[in-house]
Amino acid sequence: MKSSAPGKIILFGEHAVVYGCPALAVPVTQVQAEVEVLHSSQPGIRVHSPAINLNLDLSELPEDNPVAYLIHKFFSSQHCSSSSIVQYFNGVDIHIRSTIPVSAGLGSGAAVSVALLRALSHYLNISLSNEEINELAYETEKLHHGTPSGIDNTVITYAMPVYFVKGHPIETFEVAKPFTIVIADTGIIAPTRDSVRDVNHLWLQDPARINRIFAEISKISSEGRRLIESGQTDALGELMNQNHACLQTLTVSCPELDHLVQQACRAGASGAKLSGSGRGGNMIALVSAENAHQVASALLTAGAKHVIVTVVK
Ligand code: PMV
Repeated sequence: MKSSAPGKIILFGEHAVVYGCPALAVPVTQVQAEVEVLHSSQPGIRVHSPAINLNLDLSELPEDNPVAYLIHKFFSSQHCSSSSIVQYFNGVDIHIRSTIPVSAGLGSGAAVSVALLRALSHYLNISLSNEEINELAYETEKLHHGTPSGIDNTVITYAMPVYFVKGHPIETFEVAKPFTIVIADTGIIAPTRDSVRDVNHLWLQDPARINRIFAEISKISSEGRRLIESGQTDALGELMNQNHACLQTLTVSCPELDHLVQQACRAGASGAKLSGSGRGGNMIALVSAENAHQVASALLTAGAKHVIVTVVK
């Protein structure tokens, strides 16, 4: 049984989303996590993930390994204790493959979780709703990030554009007119946990000032949704620039991200911003279908390690 899940990118609202502000995220199907559960003639539950050099039995993985943690959570959601898993699930190989760069703001951890849950439930003929998948994937996100908003697991589970407000029912939104973005990776690995913690320190020091920035980001996300739903996507570039400036004030940009943002605009993008937790990882730029490749190659020349051109629809 093979299951897959896409990557994701945040268009607007990162960081503020942790404090209950809205954010917009969309799936990125050019990158995928794929999990295959196969019957094996060998006893045990073997987990293979060549990308991270993992080839161990489930019983050898530490409890806080995200794959082991999720498998245990999955079975306990089915009222099966950790000690009795091998009674129901034995002689299996779990193969995990992913083309989603790790710690780059593309949701690699959440995509592996969602694909793994789908593969396990197919193999065992257990039906899991998207709601259950989303909830279990969120539990594992907590291991990766500490206090995640839940946006990654949500957009990846539903694989649709999502207007996300923490703790609120899921709202998807329509893209009235498809638009193109270029995603460029600084190649810098920056843990989400650290930038989220630093924003929290800023907030604790001066809540009134940081709340004003969050309020501005909220307006940007809501306006972004309105523009996307009404097909006025040309105006999204200016909103990206404004959102990037807010994120700079929150200290989550870095010289490499600022450089890529500037170079994208110089090459003809109508706006750009960092995307995700920042300090590294990815940025996005709004482009026309005609200048997408020009902007993508300018970003590579400016030092980006990978670029993805994707149409949001
Ligand atoms: O992990 P990333 O890079 O996709 O960023 C997560 C977005 C944050 O808003 C910074 C954190 C969160 O949990 O929403």
